[in-house]
Amino acid sequence: KIIVLDYGSQYNQLITRRIREFGVFSELMSHKVSADEIREINPIGIILSGGPNSVYDDGAFGIDEEIFKLGIPVLGICYGMQLITHLLGGKVESADNSEYGKAILTHTDDAVLFAGTPTEQQVWMSHGDLVTQAPEGFEVVGTSDDCPIAAIQNLDTNFYGVQFHPEVTNSIYGNDLLKHFALEVCHARGDWSMDNFIDMEVAKIREQVGDKKVLLGLSGGVDSSVVGVLLQRAIGDQLTSIFVDHGLLRKGEAEQVMETLGGKFGLNIIKVDAKERFMSKLDGVDDPEKKRKIIGNEFVYVFDDEATKLKGVDFLAQGTLYTDVIESGTETAQTIKSHHNVGGLPEDMQFQLIEPLNTLFKDEVRELGIQLGMPEEIVWRQPFPGPGLAIRVMGAITEDKLEIVRESDAILREEIVKAGLDRDIWQYFTVNTGVKSVGVMGDGRTYDYTVAIRAITSIDGMTADFAQIPWDVLQKISVRIVNEVDHVNRIVYDITSKPPATVEWE
Ligand code: XMP
Repeated sequence: KIIVLDYGSQYNQLITRRIREFGVFSELMSHKVSADEIREINPIGIILSGGPNSVYDDGAFGIDEEIFKLGIPVLGICYGMQLITHLLGGKVESADNSEYGKAILTHTDDAVLFAGTPTEQQVWMSHGDLVTQAPEGFEVVGTSDDCPIAAIQNLDTNFYGVQFHPEVTNSIYGNDLLKHFALEVCHARGDWSMDNFIDMEVAKIREQVGDKKVLLGLSGGVDSSVVGVLLQRAIGDQLTSIFVDHGLLRKGEAEQVMETLGGKFGLNIIKVDAKERFMSKLDGVDDPEKKRKIIGNEFVYVFDDEATKLKGVDFLAQGTLYTDVIESGTETAQTIKSHHNVGGLPEDMQFQLIEPLNTLFKDEVRELGIQLGMPEEIVWRQPFPGPGLAIRVMGAITEDKLEIVRESDAILREEIVKAGLDRDIWQYFTVNTGVKSVGVMGDGRTYDYTVAIRAITSIDGMTADFAQIPWDVLQKISVRIVNEVDHVNRIVYDITSKPPATVEWE
């Protein structure tokens, strides 16, 4: 594998991602890793990422210099190049003008990493310092207008440095450069896939856990489900999962989780039927924030109650993704006060954390789920908020109002899937607006609820556009909901984006 040492660049997640796309396993590690640890890991290549520091700053991130003597090819990107330069006797200085954005780089014919790419090419620069003198043994193989030493190489030691960011798409041939480093310089075989990841993780988890017990909070969402199936494969019944059914899940959801994960995949799941507990706490509460708070707290209490009953659990598994990880992101286990993570476990319970997904992006987690044989309904599940349907019934919750949103939502989901739109629309659901209006059905007057359809496209939920569902699909959904769900006589379509609206109505 190729390891990427983390110097804090906002792009460093992308480097490992790109390398993995070439079929080479890659992981981010803290720059504090020692040469001994590296020797043990035995990577075929090391990449030093960019970072916001200057190599001259007090407390600037360094590297165990013994790493440079291991004979492993090294590529320094931006700060990484400056660090190599600084430590190997070259010169780094503050640039007169910081350089941000597109630049044209010209490389020499013998610039190894640029082989097969145009002599002049667009690259993405983002730096305040620059290399003004290459270290001994290095040749300058790339320049740009504002950065005379933009690429260096030392073919004796197989050390390379580039000032620009090859991992971002604005560096047009950046991907070729990284690929060349991985496959040609480091001689990676390029045959790594998610299957290997599963084998590696299974072995790692077995070694870490031994014969101890692991606890997992299962939500039915993609991440925790994938963690559950992966851990099950690694340690079988040493894993206990707790699935809290707060009665605010979508139609068929609890059953699906139990059937698929508990049945087909054989997870040992403690299903806590806590509907009464939640409903009684929510009785008469109409303020959205209060509703959310009550549900959040109650969730923790229920989880705690069950976890406390289990004896001898040493590990807590979580579905943390790469995007959630900061700085020394690869420490898969650290002792924590458990309540920091789960929100309220008793102070005297100490867990070690297992986070097998913390090197992956969301789409990689989906691929992993598919490789583990999980059904698409789970792997491609749309985001669902923790408070569940409670924030899709406006005002105080009653069982009747919940039933309306649960049934109408099921119809909506069915029709969206039938129309083949489920992968295009980021999130789609119905809302019981709580508003009653007059209608006519058969020969009689009705006075019933208005259901809203909410459907959005988004990348991350932070901003969103309302989805443009074709009229005929909307029409079908509208007719079906009014006909099939009691006490609904009107359907409206929410055509606001976020901002100014939010995705959820409460
Ligand atoms: P909003 O309504 O804030 O939603 O625009 C943005 C995204 O976050 C989801 N959401 C939540 N997810 N717990 C969650 O796990 C919550 O309390 C929560 N509230 C909103 C929402 O479904 C959308 O995807």
